[in-house]
Amino acid sequence: MISGTHATAAMEILQPDGFNANMTKRIKDAVSIPVFAGHNVFTPELAEKMLSDGDGDFVALGRASLADPAWAKKAQNGLADDITPCINCLIGCTDRGLLANRPISCTVNPTLYKYECPPITPTQTPKNVVVIGGGPAGCEAALAAARRGNHVTLYEKREIGGAMIEASAPENKADIRRLIAYYKRHLDNNKNIDVVQKNVTTEDILNENCDAAIVAVGGRERTLNNVNGINSDMVFSAMSVLTHDVNVPGESVAVIGGGITGSETALELVRMGKQVTIVEMADQFLSNRSTSSAAQAYAVAISQSTIKVLTSLRLEKVADGQLTLVDKFGNEQLLKTDAVVLAAGFDAQPQFANTLDDNANIPVYNVGDAKRVRDIYDAVHEGFVAGRQI
Ligand SMILES: Cc1cc2nc3c(=O)[nH]c(=O)nc-3n(C[C@H](O)[C@H](O)[C@H](O)COP(=O)(O)OP(=O)(O)OC[C@H]3O[C@@H](n4cnc5c(N)ncnc54)[C@H](O)[C@@H]3O)c2cc1C
Ligand SMILES: Cc1cc2nc3c(=O)[nH]c(=O)nc-3n(C[C@H](O)[C@H](O)[C@H](O)COP(=O)(O)O)c2cc1C
Ligand code: SF4
Repeated sequence: MISGTHATAAMEILQPDGFNANMTKRIKDAVSIPVFAGHNVFTPELAEKMLSDGDGDFVALGRASLADPAWAKKAQNGLADDITPCINCLIGCTDRGLLANRPISCTVNPTLYKYECPPITPTQTPKNVVVIGGGPAGCEAALAAARRGNHVTLYEKREIGGAMIEASAPENKADIRRLIAYYKRHLDNNKNIDVVQKNVTTEDILNENCDAAIVAVGGRERTLNNVNGINSDMVFSAMSVLTHDVNVPGESVAVIGGGITGSETALELVRMGKQVTIVEMADQFLSNRSTSSAAQAYAVAISQSTIKVLTSLRLEKVADGQLTLVDKFGNEQLLKTDAVVLAAGFDAQPQFANTLDDNANIPVYNVGDAKRVRDIYDAVHEGFVAGRQI
């Protein structure tokens, strides 16, 4: 009993794990033939619970087995911690696979259906590799390079996870937390990898005796410094709101930026009891709606909420509890608000890799958002490819 069409699939991003279990139980109680229960089942723990609660006679796995084809075997052998977890993103399997008429792939399993990508083999010449950044790109790169037998030092200035920490903050994205935990465990347990908590500079790396560097420093949050009054104390970053690091004052909040981060921040603010207006500079908010299941799901969730959406308006000034917004003809509009939350996107940071490349006589690989801001899929895949070729 699993829903099959894309229209329902996009919404599964916003559903809790095992959300169909109550329905399959009702069917099982009413029929005398075997019932398969499923949908958003990602852990053996949940599968066991569903079976013992009588939600079904079997548990059916879809995406969990794309993320890790050995899921069932690992579960059977008590190796649940080794399972590469599906993060319920629909990016590889659906957006870039099924819906793009392309072979299915998977965000967290970079070799899925990549027949051109042979298994990792041990290197004959082990090297000292440095990885800068412990987001998905850096973690995947470190694990791939270490599996070849290289020695890896991974520098992370904050904590392992990178932007996935903020990405996984909303409750409906808790599945991403499992990937962070997976990387932490596998980095800790790999004797070829040292994780060092340090904010390293290019100088530090140039002074280090290493044979290759993988730069995975991620993107930089846009701060809209050209906007008058942007440093006012009524302005907060989406990242700090998502992780509940700040108390957003008042009742009304304007979220600047109508992409996926802006949309999920707006929904989080509604959960905090705020009246939210999204202000988007482009003519359409969530402009990637036709190619992204997440964007479709958020568009529906926002249309069913109290959130107001204003498009084709650029933030020009923040002052005295009101925003000045300007349309493309230069007309001004005022918006009264108690707080402003910036979700204006990220910029790539190629400088770190470029400086190393210019000054170090070793191969330098720039991967993930540091190269071009995208998503976990590209970070994982690029990190893997860089790590496996050293
Ligand atoms: C709020 C939010 C929601 C998101 N939601 C999704 C989503 O649902 N699905 C999805 O696929 N993607 C999502 N993304 C995007 C995704 O998180 C990023 O594309 C991905 O994390 C990029 O990975 P990365 O490893 O390249 O960089 P990052 O994850 O940014 O990691 C870079 C790491 O490098 C460290 N670092 C930087 N400089 C140094 C230095 N000098 N020394 C040591 N360490 C350093 C940083 O501390 C950081 O941990 C979201 C992003 C945000 C912000
Ligand atoms: C790549 C992909 C292809 C799918 N193809 C079909 C299909 O052809 N017919 C169908 O009824 N459901 C299809 N589904 C939906 C799955 O059968 C299942 O309902 C969905 O993935 C939810 O289960 P899961 O949470 O275990 O992945 C597909 C899902 C994915 C991710
Ligand atoms: S692409 Fe995302 S949703 Fe699809 S199987 Fe992989 S991790 Fe799961």
